[in-house]
Amino acid sequence: MSGVLYQIYPRSFADSNGDGNGDIQGIIDHLDHLEWLGIDGIWLSPVTVSPNADWGYDVADFCAIQPDLGTMEEFDLLIDCARQRDIRVLLDLVPNHTSDQHPWFLDSRSSLAAQQRDWYVWADARADGAVPNNWVSSFGGPAWTLDPATGQYYLHNHLVEQPDLNWWNEDVRKAFDDILEFWIARGVAGFRIDVCNIIIKDAHLRDNPPATEEDDFEAQLFGQRSVYNGNRPEVHQVIQRWRRLAESHDESRVLIGETPVKIDVLADYYGDGADELHLAFNFPFISSTFDAAMRTIVEETETLLPPGAWPAWTGSNHDMSRFATRWANDDPFKARAAIMMLLSLRGTPVLYQGDEIGLGDTEVAHEDMRDPLGVLYWPAYAGRDAMRTPMQWRDTEGGGFCAPGVSPWLPFGDVKACNVEDQHKDPGSMLVLTRDLISLRRHTPDLRTGQYASVGAPQGIWAWRRGEDVLVALNLGDHDAAFEGFSGQILIGTDRRRDAESFSGSVPIRAWEGLVASLRTKGERCKTLRP
Ligand code: GLC
Repeated sequence: MSGVLYQIYPRSFADSNGDGNGDIQGIIDHLDHLEWLGIDGIWLSPVTVSPNADWGYDVADFCAIQPDLGTMEEFDLLIDCARQRDIRVLLDLVPNHTSDQHPWFLDSRSSLAAQQRDWYVWADARADGAVPNNWVSSFGGPAWTLDPATGQYYLHNHLVEQPDLNWWNEDVRKAFDDILEFWIARGVAGFRIDVCNIIIKDAHLRDNPPATEEDDFEAQLFGQRSVYNGNRPEVHQVIQRWRRLAESHDESRVLIGETPVKIDVLADYYGDGADELHLAFNFPFISSTFDAAMRTIVEETETLLPPGAWPAWTGSNHDMSRFATRWANDDPFKARAAIMMLLSLRGTPVLYQGDEIGLGDTEVAHEDMRDPLGVLYWPAYAGRDAMRTPMQWRDTEGGGFCAPGVSPWLPFGDVKACNVEDQHKDPGSMLVLTRDLISLRRHTPDLRTGQYASVGAPQGIWAWRRGEDVLVALNLGDHDAAFEGFSGQILIGTDRRRDAESFSGSVPIRAWEGLVASLRTKGERCKTLRP
């Protein structure tokens, strides 16, 4: 858990067979890159069977591999090849909903008396003929769709093609136990659990109350507070059940929740610190601006999480604008400071493919859009394709993602300006900085597991200690500054020319510069190494 995770969006990682889609063999082919980078575990966005209304997040078979991504044999091979490199594989589990093509839903909608009718959330229209309640889909529009054949509405918190499962039903719970067991038996190290905070809904399907002025952006957008269709108390029983299952094996499996909630609510998903999620994604953090506001969020997280809980820090994913664009405004200096932060906080950093080379968002033209949200809401919202464009391996036609002449499923960004191969050769690159920070973390116990403690610093500088020995300081302002009160030696600076520089009482930090330092003097460090 103190290692570094890396999210792979398989369709965009590497295409091994010339169809323009990334695939499992493509991941196997690039494990050397991940090993070189020092990654401990990969989280794969869904690789299971899906009609792709929402690109894998509408699952039609939880225990089979999507054919254009590969085969079960290739998946098993991936687990083996990764293990040989000490890399563990985590899968994406989507328990809130299935595809409308899933056999469970096909049965469920077949008649009011169907065996699996109760596996989904069905409800009658209100007396006046209106939809069962006022809930809205988090993808916009009503959360209910009428099924004319049976005369009832089904609930979908996302697309119409993603009917929500009924987590009050014990058979649904058992079916998911089996799914978890199926993948655990194949050697997966854990699961990232999609929208795990909303899986169980109010048993009485009560209306959500209207949003008030104090509510967050999302509540304002939807005009209501998600009181009855998310974060219900009963969700914790389900997560505890999964935790027990995850720990019932020789080697505990990791549960990482997608938990888009405020920090006090996030803390609840860790349970007592040992009986719910191992890691919960921190959305206030990822959504923050890269300035003093972020320090406040980190401090709040450190304060509110229960004892023993371990935070997760991520800057990008397949749903959110990449941090090189969102936090760093496509300024490479800022992106370097951001990767230093992610890799130096107390907790598990989860990088998204491309973060290591400072890849920013790629604008995707309307006619090339594949994300249903972009297609639906453009131009008001351009969707999520900008953060899903193919990985940029090389400055060649196909970008090293696919063979020359093959047309990729989404267009490339600027492969010349940003690619793995060129950065590999450049000791000053973002890629080498990322690799070196991961390695430093691995070999410095205080940086890996030491406590976090903020340190008072001049305006614009965010500084913290990790354990006894390590000091991290980032200048998140546009002015050069000096940081007083510590003596030691820089281990890694975002400006690599400063690596190994000693300082005594004061250390200058230029605008958007960052450094990780040891507070021991050189002599003391030698003593520790040779007691
Ligand atoms: C999660 C996924 C997102 C998907 C949604 C519905 O938020 O990260 O990509 O669209 O769930 O499954």
